[in-house]
Amino acid sequence: MRYFDARVIENRSLGAGYYVLRLGGCESLERSEPGQFVMVRGDWERDPLLPRAFSLLGVAPGGRADVLAKTVGRGTALLERTIPGARLSVLGPLGKGFPSPARGVTDLLVAGGVGMPPLFMQADRASRAGLAAQCEMLYGGRSSRDIVLVAEMRSLGVPLFLATEDGSLGRRGRVTATLEARIDEHRRAAGGATRLRILACGPKAMLWAVGRIARERSIECHLSLEEQMACGIGVCLGCAVPARSRPFRYVCKEGPVFDASEVLDVAQLVTPGAGNPALK
Ligand SMILES: Cc1cc2nc3c(=O)[nH]c(=O)nc-3n(C[C@H](O)[C@H](O)[C@H](O)COP(=O)(O)OP(=O)(O)OC[C@H]3O[C@@H](n4cnc5c(N)ncnc54)[C@H](O)[C@@H]3O)c2cc1C
Ligand code: FES
Repeated sequence: MRYFDARVIENRSLGAGYYVLRLGGCESLERSEPGQFVMVRGDWERDPLLPRAFSLLGVAPGGRADVLAKTVGRGTALLERTIPGARLSVLGPLGKGFPSPARGVTDLLVAGGVGMPPLFMQADRASRAGLAAQCEMLYGGRSSRDIVLVAEMRSLGVPLFLATEDGSLGRRGRVTATLEARIDEHRRAAGGATRLRILACGPKAMLWAVGRIARERSIECHLSLEEQMACGIGVCLGCAVPARSRPFRYVCKEGPVFDASEVLDVAQLVTPGAGNPALK
């Protein structure tokens, strides 16, 4: 797989450092699955040297691909400033995504902050498969400024439950509390007969909390991990996380989506980029 040239069609600011980059020339991403990601680099000379990883928010026929990004450092700040027509180098689709929606299974999609894109894409996939009623989006952030693309989410027809820590939008508190409430509600309504599955992406602390909730309640759970990545293709070994079945798994190639039982209470012992101190 090689880097290809994509063009910025639109850079839509959502406020608070969030923006959606719409890219053209991404025909090779058209068959991407929710949870897969791309490595992106602009004409930045040497600073930053490495490309940055972004989950796909959506892909469409005609070579269109969307990513949602939040500015946290130099790479994302440079991308935030890109203008239509700018050229970006893109590698992807990379990694393994979330399992497909399945009849008879209710998927609880748990999104924290900028971990929302792969779950948006999963909700879109369910909606297109006529399974919107069998999944729901639980989306949390620190405040209303961290909750974006709500109208787009509602248009998918998937039930949406919002939570903010400061109570400025949706239920006050962490999205994990919303998750527990939704599980209880499903189990009460169906007398325990509903088959639930949890798919989650967000900050590490949220992921581990989600994994534990799933384990305590014997619910299948898939977590999308984020590690700092230099290559994205299994070469630099910078994204290694400890795992249960083997000493290490590589997030870029074997993930980023893992069965929670494979990484829960093992992977959280490492810090981002710990596998390769040369990552910058
Ligand atoms: C598979 C994958 C999918 C991702 N999807 C998205 C996405 O859809 N939208 C989005 O905005 N971001 C996403 N990220 C995170 C994104 O790659 C980083 O925010 C970006 O690389 C930061 O680059 P920077 O140069 O702006 O910041 P840097 O200057 O490199 O870093 C700024 C700060 O962020 C921390 N950081 C950087 N990268 C990561 C990371 N991967 N995990 C945890 N902390 C990190 C650094 O330690 C530092 O404290 C994803 C990362 C991965 C691995
Ligand atoms: S990012 Fe290089 S091996 Fe995973």
